[in-house]
Amino acid sequence: MTQTVLHIDSSARFQGSITRELSARIAQGLGGKILRRDLADSLPQINEAWVGANFTPLDQRNAAQRDTLALSDALVAELEAADTVIIGVPIYNFGVPTSLKAWIDLVARAGRTFRYSQSGPEGLLKGKRAILVVASGGTQIGSEIDFATPYLRHVLGFLGIEDVEIVTADRNSTDADAVIEKARTQAKALAA
Ligand SMILES: Cc1cc2nc3c(=O)[nH]c(=O)nc-3n(C[C@H](O)[C@H](O)[C@H](O)COP(=O)(O)O)c2cc1C
Repeated sequence: MTQTVLHIDSSARFQGSITRELSARIAQGLGGKILRRDLADSLPQINEAWVGANFTPLDQRNAAQRDTLALSDALVAELEAADTVIIGVPIYNFGVPTSLKAWIDLVARAGRTFRYSQSGPEGLLKGKRAILVVASGGTQIGSEIDFATPYLRHVLGFLGIEDVEIVTADRNSTDADAVIEKARTQAKALAA
């Protein structure tokens, strides 16, 4: 069966972006149907109207509330459709880019992508694989100042996505060529 790949980038850079190069390689290597979401195209932040609409039961939402949630619904639908989600993640100020945080806020929907059960929260996006392509200038991924990858693993797991692999192009401000080459090899192995 042809798999569906959701290919997401969040680097603000288009020229020379390491995460963009690697995420594209992985998406091409995996093949299948590719859904594309570029977060550099500025997603809105959630606001009071959005929170109110989200917490209004589906059958009670008015037209304005349905409209407020339309983008979020579309982003969730892409995630639901995907077998594999590839996310390009540049480290910005020790965390994830605001564009990626905005996307997370828009897809973490109680009753839709997770729910509260008697045994605690339960992720509803089951059976999916996530591949994070993480680049940093100096922060070592997995070190105590890497706040991005533990956060992403946690939030994806919260939504039900437990299978998370990470391709690292970290500390690329020194010996960039060697870092990128190693990441390309990792990327190739993942897509095999
Ligand atoms: C606004 C901004 C903030 C950054 N903050 C960090 C940081 O906290 N730690 C770090 O190691 N690198 C930091 N960097 C470097 C990037 O993580 C690095 O250049 C990475 O390769 C960017 O991904 P890209 O090549 O896909 O654009 C920052 C870069 C920018 C533009």
